[in-house]
Amino acid sequence: MTDGDGQLEARLTEQEVFEPPEAFTAGANVSDPDIYEKFEEEWPACWESAADLLEWESTYDQVLDDSNPPFYEWFTDGKLNASANCLDRHLDERGDEVAIEWIGEPVEEANRSFTYAELHREVNEFAAALRELGVGEDDIVTMYMPMIPELPIAMLACARIGAPHSVVFAGFSAEALATRMNAADSEYLITCDGYYRRGDPLDHLDKANEGLAGVEHDTSTVVVDRLSDNGDDFGHELTDDQYDYADLVEDHAGAEVDPVTRDAEDMLFLMYTSGTTGQPKGVKHTTGGYLSWATWTAHAVLDVKPEDTYFCAADIGWITGHSYIVYGPLTLGTTTMMYEGTPDYPDRDRLWSIIDEYDATQLYTAPTAIRAFMKWGSSFPENHDLSSLRLLGTVGEPINPRAWKWYYTHIGNEECPIVDTWWQTETGGMMVTTLPAIKDMKPGAAGPPLPGVDVQIVDALGEEVEAGQAGYLTVQKPWPGMLRTLYRNDERYIQEYWAEYSDTESDDPEDWVYFPEDGAKIDEDGYITVLGRVDDVINVSGHRLGTMEIESAIVGVEGVAEAAVVGGDHDLKGEAVYAYVITEDGYDGDEGLRERIIAGVEEAIGPIARPEQVVFTPDLPKTRSGKIMRRLLENIADGDELGNTSTLRNPEIVEDIQRQVQG
Ligand code: WT7
Repeated sequence: MTDGDGQLEARLTEQEVFEPPEAFTAGANVSDPDIYEKFEEEWPACWESAADLLEWESTYDQVLDDSNPPFYEWFTDGKLNASANCLDRHLDERGDEVAIEWIGEPVEEANRSFTYAELHREVNEFAAALRELGVGEDDIVTMYMPMIPELPIAMLACARIGAPHSVVFAGFSAEALATRMNAADSEYLITCDGYYRRGDPLDHLDKANEGLAGVEHDTSTVVVDRLSDNGDDFGHELTDDQYDYADLVEDHAGAEVDPVTRDAEDMLFLMYTSGTTGQPKGVKHTTGGYLSWATWTAHAVLDVKPEDTYFCAADIGWITGHSYIVYGPLTLGTTTMMYEGTPDYPDRDRLWSIIDEYDATQLYTAPTAIRAFMKWGSSFPENHDLSSLRLLGTVGEPINPRAWKWYYTHIGNEECPIVDTWWQTETGGMMVTTLPAIKDMKPGAAGPPLPGVDVQIVDALGEEVEAGQAGYLTVQKPWPGMLRTLYRNDERYIQEYWAEYSDTESDDPEDWVYFPEDGAKIDEDGYITVLGRVDDVINVSGHRLGTMEIESAIVGVEGVAEAAVVGGDHDLKGEAVYAYVITEDGYDGDEGLRERIIAGVEEAIGPIARPEQVVFTPDLPKTRSGKIMRRLLENIADGDELGNTSTLRNPEIVEDIQRQVQG
């Protein structure tokens, strides 16, 4: 690889700085450098400029109500509807422009595009159908769907009738679906018969049905037929409580449903994410604050304009797709692309051929994908005209300077700024990144906090650390896109995100600090480099997985006595799952057990959680008090120096494990 030499990497880590490319800055949505100072002085009123990007049925009384921290409220008493903001408001001027450009897999002719008028019509019809099925305001509707147009249609239909959605990533297991439907008491599921992966049809309904069998209450299910147009069929029969999506929409042809008036603080959706315990966390996002945040950040950071063809290559099953495929782009009236397949099918130039064909103007993707592109080589993008691109973005994990530089050169032709955006499911949208027309870029550092976002890097006591020192990332002031609570669990909300650095007895917002569980450092210019999670959560290909969840899946496998799971460095995925397993007496750590462990993890969570390596060991390194030394297991996975292990209860085990990992 041309840029692949270690010298370049070394030079880049010495902080090379790139100015915003001139080709970009002239037309950027946000270009006044005073915005940082202005937002600081005018906080929290500065966030009116985010709310102003939306259409409100009636305006709010107060920008921020911080009388009961950490239960902040934004744009209080404002009324709006998210579906009206994404659709109805664009009809007059942009009704015939494309809202969603969907690229399917595998059949090229199967591509579908929806103008704003068409999307509006289908969302209305499906909203009417959902109502008839009994979905009422505040009923939580679960969606277990891959990247097909009916997913955003269903989300917007729910938003229209004031029913919060809870999207479960299609790659998650049946068990994960059941857990989430039970936790939310969700009585409605929208899913599909199957979808395509690398040209082959996959059965999805079978998995959905298996999940439904584990749901403790009655449910109604809507099933989208994705496969039969291509002549594929798994022979599913719908049961009495299952409805065909196309039939429902046809029955409601031409129906119009007035968007339900929602309060700014009403829930727009729930999104379950992994935490340190086995039970996933139901992150609650609201209609006014979240939508303002997704929209403002898409406008200011991704520079989305109505005339763009904007491409975010994430999956809508994660927060990135919610904020930056669906809500942010559609409120801004742009054309948002949706790609069903993988980047390497039918060939490794798939994304570049899509960008070329549709003249995409932005690409927002994950470092794990960029590292794969880099490995495949620059000949794939070189065979395509990527000159339509104006801006590049990354999200999900730190991007190493070498991958950054490759992206900048081979995809952006040194003419596109790169925004390295740090945020989380809980923050609703971007928090730390450069404003692309204003700030220089430093490969490897996400950038300064966005204007109006108060991030500090602190030590264990909450004191700001000096430039260059590693510390913990904290957010010192609330922001409109923040989660409001964990669904039905205010106590866990406080414990998980606030307790570490807040005076939880106080009702002074100054005493409340949000802790996202990331380590970070900051330089003299205020640029933040995110160092990774500091809790028992690992980040595989930009997806968050709880080690406890994986451990409990492994311990559930017959023959396993104990397991410890850690994240180890991985060239492509960023981190990979390493499982250290003690077998039960009478069982051997053999290939059969290894396979059953992998199958057990896939069944409980999904293939993304599949262990990279399963290491059988007679014991795990423990402290004298019996705590598993995970740090040490991480170091072993990474092949790092271990330092002093003599304080362990069982130091002799370490070499044993090391030998196995290396062998
Ligand atoms: C965690 C959040 C944000 C949507 C996708 C993931 C890590 C995210 C970056 C970045 C370094 C990053 C953090 C964060 N992360 N973006 N630009 N640089 N790390 O959402 O599943 O909620 O995971 O992803 O560790 O806490 P998520």
